[in-house]
Amino acid sequence: MKKNIILIGFMGVGKGTTARAYAEKYGTFIIDTDDLIESKENRRIKTIFKEDGEKYFRECEQQCADWIENSVDNSFISCGGGFYKVSNLKKLGTVVLLDASYEWIFNRLSTAENSKAKLRKRPLFSEPKKAKKLYNEREKAYKKIANLVINVEDKSLKTIIKEIHKHVYI
Ligand code: S3P
Repeated sequence: MKKNIILIGFMGVGKGTTARAYAEKYGTFIIDTDDLIESKENRRIKTIFKEDGEKYFRECEQQCADWIENSVDNSFISCGGGFYKVSNLKKLGTVVLLDASYEWIFNRLSTAENSKAKLRKRPLFSEPKKAKKLYNEREKAYKKIANLVINVEDKSLKTIIKEIHKHVYI
């Protein structure tokens, strides 16, 4: 079993922020699946969606998962919100879900300092009604696949990363 931490959860729940805080505190490097895909494709996620569609983006995610399976260990991996669907997720490491209600996530995103940019870079968050529907569709699947579920509502970053570190460490 690989010793990676695989951080999953809905768009805007704070995976990137959590990963960066974890790395700073525990001295690990972070891999972000969206960043890997953007650099391999040399274009932004929203451009990939626009030019080649969601299906192609999901193929990129699967390729990325295959690369992690073959090449990455002892790392903290922050995943895009739909990455949990790759066929080999459980083989990549311990799956940790950051969990929160849709309302909490929406509020976090829309009150962020750079709120517009945060929403603009996420094509599947462009219409709140559709995003809510997606959240409802995924909620159970996220919990089913996770080895550890951490509710992040009203918790400090410090508490969240401590909780992750208490259960799995790399
Ligand atoms: C997606 C989430 C995004 C990004 C893409 C699709 C999704 O990542 O991978 O826009 O399907 O939930 P974040 O969860 O980091 O926003």
